[in-house]
Amino acid sequence: MKEVKLGIIGLGNMGSGHCMSIHIQHKVPGMILAAVCDISAERREWAEQELPGVPFFANAEDMYKSGLIDAVLIAVPHYDHPALAISGFEHGLHVLVEKPAGVYTKQVLEMNAAAAKSDKVFGIMYNQRTNPVFQKVRDLVQSGELGEMKRVVWIITDWYRPQAYHDSGSWRSTWSGEGGGTLINQNPHNLDLIQWMLGMPKRVRSFVSFGKYYNIEVEDDVTAYFEYENGASGLYITSTGEAPGTNRLEVSGDMGKIVVENNIITFHRNRVSEREHNRVNTAPFAKPESWVCEIPASTDGGEQHVGILKNFAKAILNGEKLLAPGEEGINGLLISNAIHYSTWVDGWADLENFNHEHFYELLQEKINTSTEKKNVNRQVADLKGTY
Ligand SMILES: NC(=O)c1ccc[n+]([C@@H]2O[C@H](COP(=O)([O-])OP(=O)(O)OC[C@H]3O[C@@H](n4cnc5c(N)ncnc54)[C@H](O)[C@@H]3O)[C@@H](O)[C@H]2O)c1
Repeated sequence: MKEVKLGIIGLGNMGSGHCMSIHIQHKVPGMILAAVCDISAERREWAEQELPGVPFFANAEDMYKSGLIDAVLIAVPHYDHPALAISGFEHGLHVLVEKPAGVYTKQVLEMNAAAAKSDKVFGIMYNQRTNPVFQKVRDLVQSGELGEMKRVVWIITDWYRPQAYHDSGSWRSTWSGEGGGTLINQNPHNLDLIQWMLGMPKRVRSFVSFGKYYNIEVEDDVTAYFEYENGASGLYITSTGEAPGTNRLEVSGDMGKIVVENNIITFHRNRVSEREHNRVNTAPFAKPESWVCEIPASTDGGEQHVGILKNFAKAILNGEKLLAPGEEGINGLLISNAIHYSTWVDGWADLENFNHEHFYELLQEKINTSTEKKNVNRQVADLKGTY
């Protein structure tokens, strides 16, 4: 195979952006846009105008069976990601799924099982993994430079989204259409990064508010406490209702602390490990000597979506290692589900023995009482790259 023939399902904000990168801007060597699919007549018109000559399908099954594509990129609302991915594997296609992997872990476990049965490449659009800043933090933690982790605090309250955003699609910010609020929409990137850099927490206790700032039924304000296997603790705070908000990550370890703010990494580096200092020190107020180091990492954000597309193409064509394997999509989603679950049951959520079935039942109760928003003014606004 010389080039990957890609089909894209869902031509909304994100899917149309991917079409532009591949077909109009030719940013992805080795990949061509061979077909597109959307259920909306308005999107069909858009495709006919913007992508002349690219075959259009009104349903995924027909595109899968067409023989025109080797791989599919799924960019429809979250609930449908797993079912479309499973069907893609069954039709012998390579699959790249948009984030989040799905809405609930039970369906994502099924998707991962289907991927495991197939010999196809399975990726997920975790474009933030291409950001050199997060790659460097991961490196500092995993190489042992920071020492044993003691605490992580991530405040991500700069995901501001006004009511007009929540009203920009009937599926948005509803249990039935979206399956959650900021945890499932904006935060999948951060919840993936936190586990990609630091590993999975063992259990979670959360305090989540639903419709605190907006007329929505899902969450717009989250405070969660994480516990890790080694005893480290974490605090994860996010909201769509604060302006201007903050994005500040601080990870402390035995060898100091890493702070990431404004895409700049500062390493407050202990000259000796704090535990070692404590073992030998006799002075009541003596602290380990600490140096403030600015860590070099490109601040351009990396290649983002195009980087993931290039990597996916190379994985299919040359067996290149995936930066974001699809199977890993469940990790961030498990943290997300656990945060919801802890608040719903008003207790701890155990990630190692997560009750996938009970989570699904509780979600189903929300879906059953969900008020799908009617008559909202759906705009394919220019939201690309904003989450
Ligand atoms: N990686 C990122 O940075 C990023 C950014 C934006 C959106 N996304 C993800 O992309 C997905 C889509 O989000 P969006 O903002 O583009 O939504 P959107 O509402 O703008 O677009 C979704 C499109 O899918 C179509 N669609 C729905 N069900 C379909 C089906 N069964 N078959 C074919 N077409 C179908 C709709 O008609 C619509 O055109 C979401 O899961 C979202 O989380 C990811």
